Amino acid sequence: MKKLAIFASGTGTNTAKIIEHFKENKTSIVALVVSNKSSAGVLKIAEVNHIPTLILQKEIFFQGNGYVNELKSAGIDIIVLAGFLWQLPVSLIRAFPKKIINIHPALLPKFGGKGMYGNHVHEAVLASGEKESGISIHFVDEQYDRGQIIMQAKCSINKNDDVHSLANKIHQLEHRHFSPTIEVFSTL
Ligand code: GAR
Repeated sequence: MKKLAIFASGTGTNTAKIIEHFKENKTSIVALVVSNKSSAGVLKIAEVNHIPTLILQKEIFFQGNGYVNELKSAGIDIIVLAGFLWQLPVSLIRAFPKKIINIHPALLPKFGGKGMYGNHVHEAVLASGEKESGISIHFVDEQYDRGQIIMQAKCSINKNDDVHSLANKIHQLEHRHFSPTIEVFSTL
């Protein structure tokens, strides 16, 4: 059984789905929920599910080995980024090669990079007049939002869509595809 650490900065709807998924499918277990924000809703979800949490301090995270030792001693095999807004330091990426995956709420390589998170992504997609958007699940490497893509799923955009409706479509895709993709990846 693989031990997952989920890194998240926000509400945590994807984290909640992943926790539920791996209660049923015991190929992996969510062993730790990590956040950079002590007020993040995702921490409440962890608490309700009796999952240990770790709140990151910026000065530690971006210096030297950061939290690598803590993650290794907790036995973490795979790191899942589910709405985590800090770019990962190279020390962490190198400590977990091809073991860190991220979900991005658009069809990379378009609409990725710094500042492209949450509704900013959907605003940019709508402003560009795209006819479709979607999700990208990809490996995290040293190039922000550029790691090898594991899977993508698409949705159409119609003329009535706004940020709210597009965000809803994207969340639905994420909730459907993220956990099964993590499961396949973790059993390789
Ligand atoms: C998700 O839509 C995820 O794709 C996005 O944050 C949201 C978190 O939602 N991630 C990024 O924008 C990363 N660049 P959640 O807190 O409800 O799971």
